Amino acid sequence: MPEKIVTNKDMEKFIDTTDEWIQERTGIKQRHVAAEGETTCDMIERASLRAIAAAGIDATEIDMVILGTTTPDLIFPSTACLLQERLGIPGTAAFDINAACSSFIYALSIADQYIKSGMAKKVLVGGAETLTRAMDWNDRTTAVLFADGAGAVVLEAATEPGVLSTHIHADGRYADLLGTDVGVSVGFKNEHNGGLKISMKGRDVFKMAVRTLGKIVDETLADNNMDKSEIDWLIPHQANLRIISATAKKLEMPMEKVIITVDRHGNTSAASVPLALDEGIRSGRIKRGDMLLLEAFGGGFTWGSALIRY
Ligand code: UT7
Repeated sequence: MPEKIVTNKDMEKFIDTTDEWIQERTGIKQRHVAAEGETTCDMIERASLRAIAAAGIDATEIDMVILGTTTPDLIFPSTACLLQERLGIPGTAAFDINAACSSFIYALSIADQYIKSGMAKKVLVGGAETLTRAMDWNDRTTAVLFADGAGAVVLEAATEPGVLSTHIHADGRYADLLGTDVGVSVGFKNEHNGGLKISMKGRDVFKMAVRTLGKIVDETLADNNMDKSEIDWLIPHQANLRIISATAKKLEMPMEKVIITVDRHGNTSAASVPLALDEGIRSGRIKRGDMLLLEAFGGGFTWGSALIRY
């Protein structure tokens, strides 16, 4: 996470909102915001070095870098290429994946296929965002939600533990419910932040998120012939505590079995699932052998899940 923290109380000073509203409607208490000049690549570099250390490998053993991000440093080269250079591993495949808040699950799914097919041995998979640069700080419907951060894992071939299955989907018919108003080939202006800002029809997104995440949980369990009681931990995308609670309820899981970071991190989009995974593991709550269900939902719409035996 970047060091700088902006609390709800801080936001009250420049936007028409209250700490009470934000906590009640989203569960968010504070969020981390990248410092001036601090980039997506800076954060994912730090996260990657920690993931590499945690995996007990040397960076040179990595043969593929996949980064989930919607807020790359540049349009191109990809942030994965910038990261690869910083890690000193030239020649490895490196590319970004943009599936909004589901980007990390998409990246994990791709990495899993490469490893299972034998085409890659060790893959660095990350999710990283500087979403606060893409939003309008004066728009209370989005500014209180989004945040910055990065998380990473190293995947390698093994019979177990590991990724049991991944599931990814999208539906472009909902593209206008959540996204940026301008891009490179649409509406770009060389003034006022390039016209860049996130807009969202929050209520519609909320309903779709709850419904869709419920469905992907069913799909994941069915594909693995598994009962919901076999899931030890839910590691959800951290958009809204109420959305997370709805998925937990569907799984009949007590909230103690759900990793929550939204209160301190806000919605870090592609970074939220790996950050929650990191917190669950480093805090010692998630133990070897535990069954983890990761899920995410984001703009596009996109959504996905991964079932993992830790
Ligand atoms: O990560 C990608 C996926 N994203 C999501 O999953 C987000 C999904 N959506 C949500 O989490 C929720 O819809 C929000 C948190 C964005 C909004 O919560 P809500 O309960 O759906 O509120 P609402 O949009 O229905 O707004 C309720 C009221 C409105 O006032 P009126 O029209 O009832 O007078 C808003 O203008 O709250 C007002 N409002 C605010 N008030 C204080 C909206 N934003 C704020 C704010 N502070 N920041």
